Amino acid sequence: MKIIAFGTLKGGTGKTSTLFNLGGLLAEQHKVLLIDADPQFNLTSNAGISVTYKGLRTLKDVFEGSAAADDIIYKSPIPQLPNLDIIPSSIQLTATELNIVNFAGREQILRNFIQDNSDRLQEYDYIFIDTNPNLGMINQNVFNAADAIVLVSDVSFNSITGAEFFIALWESIRQRLRKPENVAALLLNNSDGRLKLAKELLAYVQGNEQLRHLLLQNVLPTSVQVKNTELDHKPINILEGDTTANREAVERVRTAFIGVLNELKERGYCNVKNAKSLYGKFSRFGGQRGSSCRLSPTSCRNGFNHAPAFRNRD
Ligand SMILES: Nc1ncnc2c1ncn2[C@@H]1O[C@H](COP(=O)(O)OP(=O)(O)OP(=O)(O)O)[C@@H](O)[C@H]1O
Ligand SMILES: [Mg+2]
Repeated sequence: MKIIAFGTLKGGTGKTSTLFNLGGLLAEQHKVLLIDADPQFNLTSNAGISVTYKGLRTLKDVFEGSAAADDIIYKSPIPQLPNLDIIPSSIQLTATELNIVNFAGREQILRNFIQDNSDRLQEYDYIFIDTNPNLGMINQNVFNAADAIVLVSDVSFNSITGAEFFIALWESIRQRLRKPENVAALLLNNSDGRLKLAKELLAYVQGNEQLRHLLLQNVLPTSVQVKNTELDHKPINILEGDTTANREAVERVRTAFIGVLNELKERGYCNVKNAKSLYGKFSRFGGQRGSSCRLSPTSCRNGFNHAPAFRNRD
């Protein structure tokens, strides 16, 4: 079981949509549990769960009650992906943040839950946890429980600054908690080759000691298809375009997400057997390949240096 948290200290960079789509792809081959630790409950909504459902049990019940895993795991909210389960969130998690401040061992609550329920949770190959952009008590719990943290940034200096702040602040908390280093990757999302800024930003990241080794070479393009995954409550691997152009656009974005999974695999954070096989299973294109979106300062066919790289944009 690998626990991967998605975070940063800038809002709206694509944490939730990236997690949702990577989780959906992985669920073709693995058992995946999504945990929504964001009181905005976007991941819960993306998965098609209505927080107005009376009696909905959420992550709050882990922090403030004594919920067992089986009480709060909702199985297969997306029928096409039976291996994808979720622990939902709700707005009430905002109050939880305040309520747990005086608890003894307050940063360990989620870790303890995972340990106490290890028999049940060991059935998952991956647990993906979504956060909002802060380092409050709930998110400290998340990052303390995570084997790896993927920082998601969009192509803006404010967003990169958010990632740098995260690294600096989490480092001091992590040391206090005696948690081994776990910031694993920096993923660039919402990339549009037409932006002049992209080139400058890439140069900045590559010149930055702290960020350089974290930066994933695969980037995610700006695409309305990512928005559609949210609207249709379907990750990119089961999203269906309604026109040929849309289907091709879906395929290109799917290829970009698979590129990210492959790179996480290369770095040892993700154990996907053969990510290429993910193409065929649900794809209306039956395995057709698109060009993946990759950064490379030298031979950059698809990187920031060359606008055509981001043809992925539709
Ligand atoms: N690559 C992309 N192309 C187009 N739209 C995108 C892309 N990535 C994210 N979006 C859209 O941007 C918006 C913000 O994305 P998302 O909710 O995933 O960000 P977030 O980092 O989770 O935000 P928050 O910090 O509030 O949790 C959403 O409407 C989402 O659909
Ligand atoms: Mg979010």
